[in-house]
Order: sequence, then C-alpha cells, then structure tokens
Amino acid sequence: MTTYNLLLLPGDGIGVETIAEVERIVDFFNKSGTAKFATDTDLVGGAAYDKHGVAITDAAMAKAQNADAVIFGAVGGPKWADVPYAVRPEAGLLRLRKDLGLFANLRPAICYPALADASSLKRELVEGLDIMIVRELTGGVYFGEPKEIIDLGNGQKRGIDTQVYDTYEIERIAGVAFELARTRNNRVCSMEKRNVMKSGVLWNQVVTETHKRAYSDVQLEHMLADAGGMQLVRWPKQFDVIVTDNLFGDMLSDVAAMLTGSLGMLPSASLGAPDAKTGKRKALYEPVHGSAPDIAGKGLANPIAMIASFAMCLRYSFNMTAEADRLEAAIAGVLEDGLRTRDIMSEGKTEVGTTRMGDAIVAKFLSLAA
Ligand code: IPM
Ligand code: MG
Repeated sequence: MTTYNLLLLPGDGIGVETIAEVERIVDFFNKSGTAKFATDTDLVGGAAYDKHGVAITDAAMAKAQNADAVIFGAVGGPKWADVPYAVRPEAGLLRLRKDLGLFANLRPAICYPALADASSLKRELVEGLDIMIVRELTGGVYFGEPKEIIDLGNGQKRGIDTQVYDTYEIERIAGVAFELARTRNNRVCSMEKRNVMKSGVLWNQVVTETHKRAYSDVQLEHMLADAGGMQLVRWPKQFDVIVTDNLFGDMLSDVAAMLTGSLGMLPSASLGAPDAKTGKRKALYEPVHGSAPDIAGKGLANPIAMIASFAMCLRYSFNMTAEADRLEAAIAGVLEDGLRTRDIMSEGKTEVGTTRMGDAIVAKFLSLAA
C-alpha cells in the first residue's frame, strides 16, 4: 500500500483544535488499514511568527513542497494585529499558495438538509443547494505589482494594488471549472467586471474562447460580479459552477458560505497543475473559516469544515472516492442525528463540542462502512 505524506499546518486559534479531529481520522485510517498516511506537523501564521519571526519558515515551505498534500487550519488573530505587513500571519498562507502554484481554489457550498433552517435565507431557497465556486488563487490583485503605499510629498499618500491577469492564467482556471462542470450539472457561470475593468474584458474573452475551443458541450453563462453577488442571495440554486478571479472569489465564497448556515461548514481545496511526468498535483486543503480567536482553545469550534476539507483531500489528491463519499455522508448523518456545535445550534438539537462532534463523525463513518 502506498504511503501518502501529509503535512499538517494547524496555524492559529481554532485551526489547532479542528486539525486534531482530522488527525484522529487519519489515525483511524492507518489502524483500520484503509490507507497509509505519514504525517508531519509544522508552524504557520502567528504561531510561526512567535517562534521564528516569519509567517512560515523556508524549512516548512520545503516540507510543503515535498508533501503529497498539505492540511491547513487557520491563521491570524488580534494578537498579531500590529506585526509588520510582510510577516503578518496571512503572509504564510499567501506564500504557500504562490510558491506551490495552487492556482485553483475549489469552494463547494452545500446546504445539508438538516441545516436549511440555520441559513439566513428561507429554507426553500437553500435546501439542497450544491454549488462549486472555482476561485483563481495565485493571480489578480492579491499578487499584482506594483503593490505599495507611496508618499506623494504633499502631505498625501497613495495606496496601490494592481489587478493583472495573463491569458494563460485565465485559460487554466476556466479549464478547471469546465472539467468540474462535466462531473456535475454541466453549467459554468463566469463572473468579472468587464464593464469597468480591462482585466475583466480579457477574462470574459479568454473564458469564451476556451469554451469554444475545448468545452462547447458545457453550458456557459457570463455575469457581472456584482450582479452575481446579488443572484447568489436571490436565487442561489440557479448556479452549478461559478468561476471567478481571486478577489471576487474571496468575497463571493464568503457570501455562498452563509447560504449554507454557517461559515463553519465550508471546506476548500487549492490545487496546482498536474505534474507533466507523474500527473500529481500539489494541493492544500483548508476550511474557509478563519481562526475564530473568540472561541479558540475552548473546545467549542465546529470541526466539520476541517473534516470536510480532509474529505476533499481524499477525493482530489488520493482518488479515494468511496472514502470521501462516506466521510461526507457521515457528516450529513450526524447532523441528521441532531448533533450541533454552538455555531449551528438550534432549538431541540443536542449541543456538542469539537471532540464529541469529531467522535460522532468517526463513529458514523464506521457504521456506514459496515
Ligand atoms: C480566504 C481568506 C484569505 C484570503 C486571507 C486569510 C488571506 O479570506 O482564504 O478566503 O483573502 O484569500
Ligand atoms: Mg476569504
């Protein structure tokens, strides 16, 4: 049996306690002979800054480069509000994305039937929701140069960020979206702001050409990103796959997350290009939620997004489709059974902490295997 190497980067806040639940699932897989995982752990974010003065060390980056997959918790917190910009906790995550070439960020927004009432939208709008946001992750305004604050010398300063996309960057992310759509409901909606941005004009053209050239069997629609945000809260079930740039994807995926009831439910996968020789992709899996410093260390955090991120890892890095399906079914199952962490608690349900939720998911996974 192949041994898969996982690098665990818990980071800060609830990243630490939620990744612990993934470790228990990994242990369970190892003990039951389902798969063989070797794990290594390192620091990222504020935790790395406190120890090393940087948001991630070169040594940890080297481990990430060599791992079969990186499992990432969360970074940041008020403790590091005043650290220099270059070494702020988020810089660790951005370096991982950039240096590993993780250009494709898959953010599924699935509304579990048991949680349809936890959404701020009406049940009928969100029940059964299943959309996939494909966010470009290594380009655009996050990384474009110049990126600086300059002194104009007249008592004024100027803050500059640069939104920039080259053809190949748009082509490859569009390709990922079209491929995914073929495995789902075969529809892609591309979002940009071509009415005010040159990068939006190019985005629209390249997506259209890529579609015509290689994916004309998929249904393609274009939407301005602001209208897309509006449609996401008006009638979210109209979407199947949404493809968009780094910044719009950041915002739209938070909106989509709330449709599902809680930010604590959403997993994500960040993938690189397949290696020309081995076909393997570099990959990092992380929950969409942040470090939640207000509840960190109290055993209250919802581990579902973290565990669902591991399910995505099984699916996209190791082709363990049956196990991924079963882990996702186990999550849906414990929700059906009425277990809730505090963030998704509602009347008549049973409130549990992080570990009990993790235990219940493992137990459900086992019972589904039988
Ligand atoms: C996300 C986060 C990050 C981002 C932050 C932590 C840098 O909001 O993954 O959505 O803006 O990409
Ligand atoms: Mg975000």
